[in-house]
Amino acid sequence: MRYIGNKTRLIPFILDTVERLRPEAGVACDPFAGTASVGQALKSRGWAVRCGDLMAFSYALQIALVELDRTPRFPAKLLGEANGNDVDRRWLAYSSLLKHLHDLPESHGFIREHFSPAGRAAAEHGRMYFTPANAGAIDAVRDRIAGWCEDGELDRQRAQLLIATLVEAADRVANTTGVYASFVKSWQPNALRELELRPLRPTGRRRGSGRCSAFLGEARELVATAGAVDLLYLDPPYNERQYPAYYHVPELISAGWKPPPTLRGKTGLIPDDALRSDWCRKDRCEEALRSLLEAADAHHILLSYNDEGILEAEAIEQVLRETGSPDSYRRLGTEYRRYRSDGDGPERTYLRDHVQEQLHYVRRG
Ligand SMILES: C[S@@+](CC[C@H](N)C(=O)[O-])C[C@H]1O[C@@H](n2cnc3c(N)ncnc32)[C@H](O)[C@@H]1O
Repeated sequence: MRYIGNKTRLIPFILDTVERLRPEAGVACDPFAGTASVGQALKSRGWAVRCGDLMAFSYALQIALVELDRTPRFPAKLLGEANGNDVDRRWLAYSSLLKHLHDLPESHGFIREHFSPAGRAAAEHGRMYFTPANAGAIDAVRDRIAGWCEDGELDRQRAQLLIATLVEAADRVANTTGVYASFVKSWQPNALRELELRPLRPTGRRRGSGRCSAFLGEARELVATAGAVDLLYLDPPYNERQYPAYYHVPELISAGWKPPPTLRGKTGLIPDDALRSDWCRKDRCEEALRSLLEAADAHHILLSYNDEGILEAEAIEQVLRETGSPDSYRRLGTEYRRYRSDGDGPERTYLRDHVQEQLHYVRRG
């Protein structure tokens, strides 16, 4: 999905750096996983990855793309007969389940009521995140997944795989310019397309490498409980934009609406006190870094940050030198095209098209 801070385009730079530090794969921890792009890349190189994030949609993506080693079997009673060998059967079963979900009649549920013009609540605020048809389809699919979970038909991994599939599908038809902090006031071409549930492919596990896992919660908690790791890859937020205000709709689709949350404001924000991050606060982020590193048991530490972040590079360097072997500290940089959700406009003018994405490195022990 489109995501602020997504490292997909930086993966070659990150993997190259990791492989120079430690050519053989080991255990890695990625506690700010977001779209799980880095965890996925590390897993494909043989690393056992412990991923985590505060956001529920990230958790779903972590399970779909990193924790699962292959498409799971789905209970036969949820779908029709599927033939073929085991791998094909799993894939066919998942695909036919998605077809079944796609063919459900639209329903007027929470998303249609609050995020499409067909809902009274949405109409009050002029909200148009989804067309009524797509919103009704999202409601039908999400409610069916919730029903299967209540009936004990889906375990955690299967449910989260289906939720991740739905979040990705909804993101492709969202009437936004990339983030959910606002919606476009007329329908964009992507929003008029029909919701399409495309199967996600879990990343296969290399022979001999350990299991990967997903985690929903505070980075510090994951780091403190992950045990000894060979690589700690940190990709925290680097500015004051709190993620729940920019991704409240995927968050809601992932977490569900039982009980229904009270939404606020023009964009229908969800209650997000528990999701607000110290890493987005200038007065708290340095302490957050220090405290996370104190909790970590890691040999190599790599921190992604960009040169316009709220933490100065010199402050990061100081903390890393204090918590690791001071002489091992290195800073690597690469030019990176800025993420633009809505381009220049009356309220926003970007001074530079490119920012420097930096990797700060320190070794311990
Ligand atoms: C820069 S993004 C990570 C992007 C990710 N590497 C990718 O490629 O998609 C930062 C992530 O940190 C998460 N986050 C912010 N504060 C957190 C905290 N205290 N604990 C865990 N995750 C946090 C956000 O939800 C967001 O997904």
